[in-house]
Amino acid sequence: MKKQHLFIGGREVETAAYTTLYAPYSKHAIAEVADAGLEEANKAIEQAVAAKPVMRRMPAYKRAAILEKLVQLLGERREEAANLIALEAAKPLKAAYGEVDRTIQTYQFAAEEAKRIHGETIPLDAAPGGEGRFGYTVREPIGVVGAITPFNFPLNLVAHKLGPAIASGNTIVLKPAPQTPLTAYFIAELLQQAGLPDGALNVITGDGKLLGEAIVQDPRVNMVTFTGSAAVGASIRAMSGIKRVTLELGSNSAVIVDKDADLEAVAARAANGAFSYQGQVCISLQRIYVLADVFEVFVERFTAEVKKLQIGDPLNPATDVSALISERDVSRALGWIEEARNLGATVACGGTAEGGIILPTVLLDVPSHAQVSCKEVFAPIVIVNKVNTMEEAVERVNDSEFGLQAGIYTNDLKTAMDVSEQLQVGGVMINDIPTFRVDQMPYGGIKQSGLGREGIKYAIEDMTELKLIVFNRT
Ligand code: SIN
Repeated sequence: MKKQHLFIGGREVETAAYTTLYAPYSKHAIAEVADAGLEEANKAIEQAVAAKPVMRRMPAYKRAAILEKLVQLLGERREEAANLIALEAAKPLKAAYGEVDRTIQTYQFAAEEAKRIHGETIPLDAAPGGEGRFGYTVREPIGVVGAITPFNFPLNLVAHKLGPAIASGNTIVLKPAPQTPLTAYFIAELLQQAGLPDGALNVITGDGKLLGEAIVQDPRVNMVTFTGSAAVGASIRAMSGIKRVTLELGSNSAVIVDKDADLEAVAARAANGAFSYQGQVCISLQRIYVLADVFEVFVERFTAEVKKLQIGDPLNPATDVSALISERDVSRALGWIEEARNLGATVACGGTAEGGIILPTVLLDVPSHAQVSCKEVFAPIVIVNKVNTMEEAVERVNDSEFGLQAGIYTNDLKTAMDVSEQLQVGGVMINDIPTFRVDQMPYGGIKQSGLGREGIKYAIEDMTELKLIVFNRT
C-alpha cells in the first residue's frame, strides 16, 4: 500500500505517525498518510517563509512558464488524476474527468493571469495639493498563503488556491481535506517537476483542527484562503486577527422555474445540478421553486430524469451517483429526510440508502424550516416546492442564511432582469441552474456563503497588496 509522506521544502518528509486512508465506496484501505504535528506545521511555514524572496523576485514570464508546464504534465496524467479523485473522493469517474479538465483550464488561466498583474496611474492633481505629483500603483505578492481545501473538488479547488498564489509570486502552505490528501500530494509532485522552487509549496496532512489552527494563527502566514463549511469559516475569521481571509463557504442554492420555461430541458439540467457528485457541491441545486401552473408537469418530468441516474461504483464509467464521503453523512442525510417527512413533505423518489449511497431523493412540499431546506444538505437530496407568484419565489430563495448562486428559468426579459436584481446571492444564472461554474468567472457568496471571490483574476486581487508610489516633482 502507498505510504504518503508530507511535502515540505521541495522534498518528502516522514512523520512519526501515519493514518490509514479508506476509499469511501469500497471501504478498502488505499494509503497510509502522514500525520503532521505542530513541529511539521512549523517546518512547512518556515520553508514557505524562506522561499518568499525567490518567488517575489521571479519574473512573471517564469511564473507563467511553471504553470504552463503544469498544464502540460496534468494533461499527460489526466487518467491517473481522474482515477485518484474517483478512488479517494468516490466521485464518479465521468465527473472526476470533468474536474481534471476544469483544473487544466484553471491552471491555464493562472498562467495567463500571471502576465497581466498590474496597477494603474493615479491622477493625483485631481485634489488640491496634488499638483506636480505623479502616482502609480503596483500589486505585490502578499507573502505566505495558507490554503485550506475541502474534499469535494480535491484537484480543482486546490488549483483555485495554488494557481493564483503562484501566478502572483506567493508561497503556500496547503492543508488539504483529510479525506482527499492523495490528490493534493499528486499536484505537489507535478508542480515540483514543473520547476516550482523548493519551499514555494508545502503540503501537510493530519489532524485538521490542529494544523488548520497552526496555519491560521501563525503571524508568518500573511493570508488564509479557505473553502469549506460556514462554521469553520467563522472560526477561521475569529482566529485570524488582522490577517487577510477569503472564505468560500456553503449554500442551499435554489432555482426558480417560471411558467414559460422549457420544462423538458430544465428537468434534465436540474437533475444534473442536484445530483452531480451526490450533491456534495457548494452550488449544488438544493431547492427548486416552480410556478403553480407548471408544477405538476415539472415534477413528473424531473422525477423521470432523476430515475434515469445510475448508482454504483465511482470507478465504473457509467455511474452517476455513488457513496457519500462518510457514513456519518449518510446517517445525517437520512435523518434530515425523515425530519422533512415528519414535517409533511412527500418523497417523490429515493429517500433511502443502499450501503453508503443515498438514492437520488426528490422531496415535495417541504416547509422552509426543515433542515433539507434551510441548511446545506451536501447529499443527493433536492426539494421541489410550488409557488404562486414570482414575488413569492424570490422571497423563498432569499429566505436563506446563505447567498452563493441562484438561477431562474424564464423567457420574460423583464422578469429575468427584475429577479436578478432582487436575488441576494453572489451570482445569478438566467436560464440555468445555480450549479454553473467556469473557472475564470468571479465565484463567491454573500451572507454565510463567504467573503471574497475566487476565479483567478479575482483571487489574485486578494493575494496581492496594492502599493502606491508617488513622485514629487515640485
Ligand atoms: C464548490 O463546491 O465550492 C465548487 C463548485 C465548483 O467549482 O463547481
